[in-house]
This record gives sequence, C-alpha cells and structure tokens, in this order.
Amino acid sequence: MSDTKNNITIERKHSHVEICLHGDIGFNRKTTGLERFEFEHNALPELSFSDIDLSTTFLGRKIGAPLMISSMTGGYREAAVLNQRLAEAAEHFNIPLGVGSMRQALENSSHRQSFSVTRKYAPSVQIFANIGAPEIAKGVTEHNLNILLELVEADGLIVHLNAAQELFQPEGNTHFGHVLEQLTKITRTIPVPVIVKEVGCGISSSAARQLIEAGVKVIDVAGAGGISWQKVEEIRYTRQFGQDNRFSLPALEELLNWGIPTAQCLLDISMLKKKSPQFSAIEVIASGGIQCGTDIAKSLALGAQLAASARYILKALHEGTLEKTIETWLNDLRAVMFLTGSATIEKLRNKKLIIIQ
Ligand SMILES: Cc1cc2nc3c(=O)[nH]c(=O)nc-3n(C[C@H](O)[C@H](O)[C@H](O)COP(=O)(O)O)c2cc1C
Repeated sequence: MSDTKNNITIERKHSHVEICLHGDIGFNRKTTGLERFEFEHNALPELSFSDIDLSTTFLGRKIGAPLMISSMTGGYREAAVLNQRLAEAAEHFNIPLGVGSMRQALENSSHRQSFSVTRKYAPSVQIFANIGAPEIAKGVTEHNLNILLELVEADGLIVHLNAAQELFQPEGNTHFGHVLEQLTKITRTIPVPVIVKEVGCGISSSAARQLIEAGVKVIDVAGAGGISWQKVEEIRYTRQFGQDNRFSLPALEELLNWGIPTAQCLLDISMLKKKSPQFSAIEVIASGGIQCGTDIAKSLALGAQLAASARYILKALHEGTLEKTIETWLNDLRAVMFLTGSATIEKLRNKKLIIIQ
C-alpha cells in the first residue's frame, strides 16, 4: 500500500472518531421511531426486581445481556487503546463486540495489533470481524478473509453495507455491483456465520430477504435516527474541498437525512420473518440511535434478538464512563422488565407495545 493511501485511511479513521464525538451529525428530519412506542404497564408484575435475569442467547451462545458493542475502529496506533477499552467492557458484561473495518489490516500488517488486542482483553466473548461491501464487491479472497477471522479469533464476519457513506466520502468507493453474488460465495466458504449490517440508513425487508437468501444469518438493521454517516463524510468533504456543490441544496438536505428509521426496519423485517417461516431462525440486531435501556427493551419487543450501539458507547468511553453507562442502560432494561412483569428477556420479547399517536 502506498504511503499516501495509508495516510488517507488513517486520517479517515481518526476523523471519524473525532467527528462522531464532537460533530453535528444527527438526523434533523427523522428519529429512530422507537419513541413512538411504549409498553403496556402491568400493575401485577408478580416478581421481585432482584429476580430479573438479563441473560439471553446470540448465535447459539449464552450472553450476559441483549446488547452488543457495534463495530467502530482499528487500523491505526491509537485505535488499539480504544479497542482494548471496548474489549474490557465487553468481557466485563459478557456481551458481543464488533471491531471496525479491517481493510487496513490487509493493506498494512503493522496495524493488525489494533484489532487483535480485542481478543487479548475479551477472551471469552463473541468478537466479530468486519469488512465493507466495496471490499466484498472487489472479490476479497478466502485466504484474506481467513487472515481477518484469525486475527480476532472471530465468532462471525460482519459485512457492512454503506452506499450512502461512500457516496458522500471524499475518497469514497461507489462500486457496489456484485455485492450479493460475492456474499453468496463468502457465506458458503467461510467457517463462521455472516452478519450484514448497514451503518445508519437501515435495511429494508426486501434487502433483508435477498441477504438471507444469500446465506446471511444475522441482519443488523443500523437504521436512521442515530448517526448520519452522510453528514460525517460531508464534514470531511467540506474540510478538504470547501462548499459542497455536488448536489443541489434541497436534494442535499434530503440526502443527508436519507434512510429507513430503526423501528421501521425492525417492524418490516419482523413481518418478513412471520410471513416466511423459513426465515424464522434469522437473528436481527437493532441498531442506529440506541441510547438507553428502554430503547433496548422496545427493540426486543419489535423482534430484535439484541440491540447494539456505537456512538453513545464511544461518547461514554471518551468521557470515562463506559462501564457506568452500560450498567445504567441495563438497569433501565431491568426497570422495563419489572414494570411489564418480565422476569426473563424471553418473556419481555412477547410483551405488548402500544403506538403513541
Ligand atoms: C467512530 C465510528 C466508527 C465506525 N466504523 C465502522 C466500521 O468500521 N465498520 C462498521 O461496520 N461500522 C462502523 N461504524 C458504524 C456503527 O457500527 C453503527 O452501525 C452506526 O454508527 C449506527 O449506530 P449508532 O447510531 O449506535 O452509532 C462506526 C461508528 C462509529 C461511531
């Protein structure tokens, strides 16, 4: 890899963290949609708060709580510190962890340690490798995929679909042809399950259907309402090139707010699973704007196996409150379970949600 290309990649990963911590990157035209729902109160919970059990399963393994730390970073020196802290928290709560895009680990072996550090500090939890759709479309080899999987002793491979992000990224790769064809090959050849996620624009039920037919085992919706990655890249673009004249102003506003809200994705994919019993074993992750335990609870009642978060976890890490924040979210979740009379996560999944008009 040339030095220039290497520097661009490192700058990108650095500025993603910096912009996600300090930038104005939320959607201003839409929300996750989770706030439109509330649980029906149960005046007779018939349980003690202390009896509540947050454990559940993900991909056949028991985990401490229905929460995952979403894919974020790796591939430069400072990322090793972030990944170590995320791994320590994942191990502490016995929850799954995704690492950031591992393209850099293939292009430059000196950055591999910033990924492998996660396995060192989270020896017993599920860790997921990560690669982007543009890499898949190019035809990443089985040999290279195995390097990535071995680096973190991965329990699965996450492939992220990020067409809108690449569209706005100054150095973006918009070759998204043949992703499905390549995914079908990958799901047949690698020894671990494949998870496909978006990064903030959501996955529709028709895209989910195609992905499941390609052999994908888990869909992480990463819907709209959290980070707009178009906005993150727009900030990077204007820093480099000044005013963005690539789109007309009204269209720009619409494109920056592009995407399917998280709750809508969950409802649509849940419906797909109900209509197509052959898809019932597919697990769904709710992400995109998850920021507390009531969001996690609603996600489960809308059909998700677990919820995942990136931005708010990153913020907590930055503020030195990572474990405290996760503990608070889990306590929020316990509160909802208590007030709905759900001693277990499996019971919570069947509780009634009311739509608030
Ligand atoms: C700093 C940062 C870097 C990210 N890098 C990646 C990545 O490399 N691969 C990936 O699949 N998703 C990446 N994401 C996206 C998240 O995994 C997640 O899908 C998205 O941010 C929506 O979730 P959120 O609203 O909880 O942040 C990144 C997120 C953040 C905050």
